Amino acid sequence: MLLKDRVAIITGGGRGIGQGVALRYAQEGAKLALVDLEQSHLDETSSLLDESGTGVEYIKLQGDVSNSGDVQRFFDATIEKFGRLDILVNNAGIGNPTIGIIDMPEEAWDKTIAVNLKSVFLCSKLAAKQFIKQGGGGRIISVSSQAGKSGFAMLTPYCASKAGVILFTQAFAKEVGAHKINVNCVCPGTIDTPLLRGAEMGLNLTDEQFTEATKRALPTIPLGRVGYPADVAKVITFLASDDADYMTGQAINISGGQEMH
Ligand SMILES: NC(=O)c1ccc[n+]([C@@H]2O[C@H](COP(=O)([O-])OP(=O)(O)OC[C@H]3O[C@@H](n4cnc5c(N)ncnc54)[C@H](O)[C@@H]3O)[C@@H](O)[C@H]2O)c1
Repeated sequence: MLLKDRVAIITGGGRGIGQGVALRYAQEGAKLALVDLEQSHLDETSSLLDESGTGVEYIKLQGDVSNSGDVQRFFDATIEKFGRLDILVNNAGIGNPTIGIIDMPEEAWDKTIAVNLKSVFLCSKLAAKQFIKQGGGGRIISVSSQAGKSGFAMLTPYCASKAGVILFTQAFAKEVGAHKINVNCVCPGTIDTPLLRGAEMGLNLTDEQFTEATKRALPTIPLGRVGYPADVAKVITFLASDDADYMTGQAINISGGQEMH
């Protein structure tokens, strides 16, 4: 087991990539604090964890990662339950309305930046404080995106927020490296999750509709398929493990080769 008895906070742990990370971390022996805005998403992940046969210990924390009061509550509850923290996975994120910048309402810009970028600041700050208090270091892994490295039209706030996560990662890695805190991020490409199936727009594409919608992207993916939460979870597990001891400040692509820089 790569993460035996390590305590991890996973934001957005209720579905999609965050749920994939929770299931993999459970197999690797971690103890989990699952954070999500939606109680129903948390309940879905907890059913899967209960059925997983791993006997994983976990707590569910409902709230908003862009709200500093909620974030403080997530950390307090985690320390109260498990007595320590070893890993923070900053995964919660949203898209933006698919409209151009000229017509983009200020509130839509603010919301995407708050949920995708400010949350990384709020959570990483409290995680690092706790790691320093404990001594012995810790791991911070954020989920950026391929869209943090290359621009996509109509996704400007999203791209800006995800590029911000990459530079936050680099700068903060330099700030806290002396405390043995490793700060890295991952940049997924096209991953089959409710977000990509249009959940935010009230859609829930069927397998057939999703295959049709992603058909045009496939020729741009050298490995010839979309990714799954488990593909991303593997790398987020590696980054939390001892095998990644000497890595910090990195932004690792997980895109089947769609993004290469
Ligand atoms: N799916 C992809 O193709 C893809 C690609 C690159 C990056 N990402 C990133 O991966 C992360 C996870 O995406 P996903 O595709 O699994 O999305 P998803 O919508 O399927 O799951 C995200 C989860 O985060 C929760 N969440 C949203 N806002 C929150 C908030 N303010 N506070 C707490 N929880 C909140 C949602 O309720 C949901 O359960 C995001 O940061 C996303 O930007 C996804």
